[in-house]
Amino acid sequence: MSTKSFGLPDPVYRYLLANSVRDTPLLRELREITATLPMARMQISPEQGQFMALLVKLIGARRCIEVGVFTGYSSLSVAQALPADGHIVACDVNEEWTAIARRFWEKGGVAGKITLHLAPATDTLDKLLAGGEAGKFDFAFIDADKPNYRAYYERCLSLVRAGGLVAIDNTLWSGSVADPEVNDADTRAIRELNAFLHHDERVALSMLPVGDGLTLALKR
Ligand SMILES: C[S@@+](CC[C@H](N)C(=O)[O-])C[C@H]1O[C@@H](n2cnc3c(N)ncnc32)[C@H](O)[C@@H]1O
Repeated sequence: MSTKSFGLPDPVYRYLLANSVRDTPLLRELREITATLPMARMQISPEQGQFMALLVKLIGARRCIEVGVFTGYSSLSVAQALPADGHIVACDVNEEWTAIARRFWEKGGVAGKITLHLAPATDTLDKLLAGGEAGKFDFAFIDADKPNYRAYYERCLSLVRAGGLVAIDNTLWSGSVADPEVNDADTRAIRELNAFLHHDERVALSMLPVGDGLTLALKR
């Protein structure tokens, strides 16, 4: 889930968008259609999509995992940045939202790069692990139900190679993680994962105020 990058004053955010986001008519159309949905705020921000596209190019990613598709903005952004033989295993449970994603993957010419698994993501990730896929992915993006974040992280970390990247969304959770008065299940789950990641020696770590907080964990 994401909004504009964290804590930026509106004029500065507008400047950032106007001077860095390389928009396309397709990405704009997907944002406009998603904006009409009640859960529109779950979509990642344009600068985050572009940043993730840069990340996959930076690490030379070919095989990716996405946990939490919604209407497809992050997967479309990443798929368009992958080489022709690149691929995303995309996990979600919602048919209605992912039908929009499928439509935009088709329009963007990347449908052939994405396999959607409509099932709880832990099941899909466990099947990949059982199928001998550990260490065979380059990049994973976690952006689904928060109480399962730790479960997703452990599975994704096993599935990526050494030098592969796990990116975790919403790690600042609109600032709630820093507010001791907020103790709902989602906030607690993110707080606990943040505390765990801080000392997880299996990865090099960076928590960035991009979108709603984006943590990068690079597998050693
Ligand atoms: C924040 S949205 C993802 C936003 C998306 N990355 C984007 O760029 O627009 C979270 C998604 O996680 C999905 N989700 C929730 N619980 C899930 C589960 N147990 N397994 C897989 N996906 C789940 C929801 O259906 C929803 O589409």
